[in-house]
Amino acid sequence: MKTKIAALAAMLLCSTLACAQTTPIKVGLMLPATGTYANLGEMIENGFKLYVAEQGGKLAGRDIQYFKVDDESDPAKATDNVNKLIKRDQVDVLVGTVHSGVALAMAKAARESNTLLIVPNAGADAITGAMCAKNVFRTSFTNWQPAYAMGVVAAKNGHKKAMTITWNYAAGNESAKGFVDGFEKGGGKVTQNLTLAFPNVEFQALLTEIAAQKPDAVYAFFAGGGAVKFVKDYAAAGLNKTIPLYGPGFLTDGTIDAQGAAAQGLTTTLHYADNLNTPRDNAFRLNFAKTYKTNADVYAVQGYDAAQLLESGLKAAGGDIKNRDKVIAGMASSQVDSPRGKFTLSAAHNPVQDIYLRQVKGNINEMKGIAIKALADPAKGCKM
Ligand code: PHB
Repeated sequence: MKTKIAALAAMLLCSTLACAQTTPIKVGLMLPATGTYANLGEMIENGFKLYVAEQGGKLAGRDIQYFKVDDESDPAKATDNVNKLIKRDQVDVLVGTVHSGVALAMAKAARESNTLLIVPNAGADAITGAMCAKNVFRTSFTNWQPAYAMGVVAAKNGHKKAMTITWNYAAGNESAKGFVDGFEKGGGKVTQNLTLAFPNVEFQALLTEIAAQKPDAVYAFFAGGGAVKFVKDYAAAGLNKTIPLYGPGFLTDGTIDAQGAAAQGLTTTLHYADNLNTPRDNAFRLNFAKTYKTNADVYAVQGYDAAQLLESGLKAAGGDIKNRDKVIAGMASSQVDSPRGKFTLSAAHNPVQDIYLRQVKGNINEMKGIAIKALADPAKGCKM
């Protein structure tokens, strides 16, 4: 009887706004903790938690409770994994993930269950394109954005004939396509797209093919552990002496220490660099390094900004995550004060952002300039 009364009292209490404001916000982190992208997942989580910690452990006055799933960057397990967070844990908001194939399944599940989703990395164009939705946001990029910028720069550098090489999945293929768009617009021609299955790193046969065809330039999309191995193999084959290697910044972000000499001088394009030297970025990098004893990278920034974006929505709704329309409106209209530089979201909920030109020098991706200012993804097929 006593417990019944207690439950009833709790129910009564919980039907009031006061209760909604005291229970923690449930954040479901679906990220890779194993495999070639494990380090990227860790940086995103650390970035997110750093921002929350900087706000005293709360966002808009609300405590944050974390639920976690290791998605293993495995699309085959993605629907089951995301449902652990949506159905079992009943999270208020999903944050994930790194791998485009996994993120596409998350976006589908988020749409169907009307769960709020913030994508802190995966670039799958469709997430803020044909599959765009009111409840789906991204704080990272589309695969097209940095790739297109790299194509434009490679053409400007006078290259005429290029080859692309990547993993055969949404991110790799869309990245290669973005490069083709920019490069061919500038008068170049991409003669061949080489691929291998994700997350394989047996590059030898493909490097032999590149050596045989002798293009003017190579564009590669790899990230995490795969990027470390690719950049080292490219140099070991002697190709870095004769054929310039370009890529989206993932090729060298968070990987330079492991790549060592093989990465020196590589030119890439990305919405972040290691020496932006703004007060905002310097403060972020200092706190990140102090807290985690390692340097921040683009993944850490994207995770940090996912927490900032959520906070904007919560603030607009007076801390009430259940007031979905206000949360969404607050997020959609927010200007995120990112370490990368301030950005806004497009109508499709993807960052409109500067794409920096960077070059590896020592252990940093040094900013060389802005390749394209305020670049918005075309968001093909997005209707909201
Ligand atoms: C992706 O799968 O969309 C992806 C993965 C790793 C990156 C960038 C994009 O660094």
